[in-house]
Amino acid sequence: MKYTASAPSNIAFIKYWGALDLERVVPHHPSISMTLEQCRSTTTVEFRPGDEGESVIELRSDDGVLSPAPPAFTTRISAHLERLRSAAGAEGSFRVATHNSFPAAAGIASSASGFAALTLSTAGALGLPLDADESSRWARRSGSGSATRSVLGGYVQWPAPDWTPELSLSGTGDDEASNRAVQLATAEHWPLANCIALVETGPKEVSSLQGHNLTTTSPHFRRRLELMAPRLERCRRAIEGRDLEALIEVVEEDAVDLHLIAMSSQPPIYYWQPGTLAVMARVRELRKQGLGAFFTMDAGANVHVLCPLDQGAKVSAELAEVPGVHSVIEDRVGDGPRSEAQHLF
Ligand code: PMV
Repeated sequence: MKYTASAPSNIAFIKYWGALDLERVVPHHPSISMTLEQCRSTTTVEFRPGDEGESVIELRSDDGVLSPAPPAFTTRISAHLERLRSAAGAEGSFRVATHNSFPAAAGIASSASGFAALTLSTAGALGLPLDADESSRWARRSGSGSATRSVLGGYVQWPAPDWTPELSLSGTGDDEASNRAVQLATAEHWPLANCIALVETGPKEVSSLQGHNLTTTSPHFRRRLELMAPRLERCRRAIEGRDLEALIEVVEEDAVDLHLIAMSSQPPIYYWQPGTLAVMARVRELRKQGLGAFFTMDAGANVHVLCPLDQGAKVSAELAEVPGVHSVIEDRVGDGPRSEAQHLF
């Protein structure tokens, strides 16, 4: 009745930005990401069958101290626990503890790794067997689109190729079946590093949820949708053929696109900080020096700089020198979630 799982964060190459139905997490188009290895959430869930008390949700610090999770956090977690509990047909309460391997104040979104780990550990504690398809669908129901991709390793697309927006909105049963993640390639297929240049350490001002809600107010959003099908195809082909030049072009294009939409939304959202632009400029310089580095940013100021794995240490060292960069987290493509023998309580 106690189960611990860890799940990594992921970095989107083609972003999920805006939704046809935010509550059911129906995107306008597929997104593609690379699953990370070091930046992980570890979650222990204990299910107490028949217990009518309140569920307890705690955060575990690096030195092992457990403290109650803040209310904003517990509402979404509780809703997800309830969803899984009722699917398992069980009665009872939960005790949950979670820990992130990356600093809480690093401004790295923890919803992808957090909700993927919560989904897998809760299903484990309830004895609810989930295959990869079901895991991604359940992770999606947490409300986090990026969590849908974090249940798989390597290079991942969500939704699956058999998905269409019409199908998802049809409310037929098949809509749910196709709204899942699929692996495009394993981590081994293409060993890439992700050096995360931290230029902001506090929580971001505008959540991705607010950003998703505003996308259609940008005059550029329609154009993004028109460009999306060939862009996705270019990205898939670049991954399949390990074509670094093609990947650089398409990933940077889509990253800037997200921020163009955000900055032209009503009201506008400015995620970039001076350090963000400084890192982007340094990355272009590094490319001129012959390195295969390229950038992408999620809904925040920090810059994810990708490159072939054997260039990771050099790129990280270069980024640490850029004015405005507080620190650099060196991560890489990874194999995805795993169950953990050691519980958090
Ligand atoms: O997982 P969500 O629903 O918080 O959305 C994530 C959105 C981005 O991180 C900005 C892009 C992405 O595809 O991960």
